[in-house]
Amino acid sequence: MLLPIEPEEIIDLAFVENLCWKMLVEGATNRKSALHQAVISTAKDNLAFMRTVVLRRVDADTRKIYLHTDNRSKKMEDIERNGHLSWLVYDQSLRSQIRLSGKTIVHHLDDLCAEQWSKTGHHSRRYYMTDQPPSTSLEQPSTGLNDALTAFDYTMEESEVGFQHFIVVETCIDWMEWYYTHSKGNRRAGFTYMNGSVSSATWLMP
Ligand SMILES: Cc1cc2nc3c(=O)[nH]c(=O)nc-3n(C[C@H](O)[C@H](O)[C@H](O)COP(=O)(O)O)c2cc1C
Repeated sequence: MLLPIEPEEIIDLAFVENLCWKMLVEGATNRKSALHQAVISTAKDNLAFMRTVVLRRVDADTRKIYLHTDNRSKKMEDIERNGHLSWLVYDQSLRSQIRLSGKTIVHHLDDLCAEQWSKTGHHSRRYYMTDQPPSTSLEQPSTGLNDALTAFDYTMEESEVGFQHFIVVETCIDWMEWYYTHSKGNRRAGFTYMNGSVSSATWLMP
């Protein structure tokens, strides 16, 4: 568990940058972390569309972060068109908001997909197994699942049918900002990256 950072500890940008990635790694690996859920934003016709996703994987060394989604979902239209994604995470207990953005790489039916799919549990697979795509209009309140999916009445082998819809979106982070709230005063720092390495770092007026 990460502890909230004290203002006295905030002395250099490299420390903050490293801390942000530690928080993100914790978010991806600890289901109880507030950072396990992120908000991602895509753009369509000059409008931003946001939604919650699970932060599934973080490669701190290469500054890449990952989500899982359905290739039939609306967000994929935006991601395919723009090739870019913005992320937001916030943990009150860590007093930290982290905003990130970068270019996307969409993985479908490749080795990374197979690796991430193998980590998805039996229960998590059923929405990838539906005939109706996400965002289909329903005539009545419903989970959209058939009886077998509702009852988890399918084998792990049968759940493989969902793999065709399973997407891993990789975001190669080129911009990150940290905002820290504290009664003694807020702090803010910004970073840019080129090919996974820090290319600029600066304190910012909160
Ligand atoms: C707590 C929570 C976690 C979610 N995690 C994901 C996720 O990891 N991937 C995903 O595609 N949708 C996830 N969703 C659903 C999305 O927020 C969104 O409603 C859905 O993907 C449709 O978005 P779209 O129409 O923009 O594609 C999650 C929703 C909630 C409330």
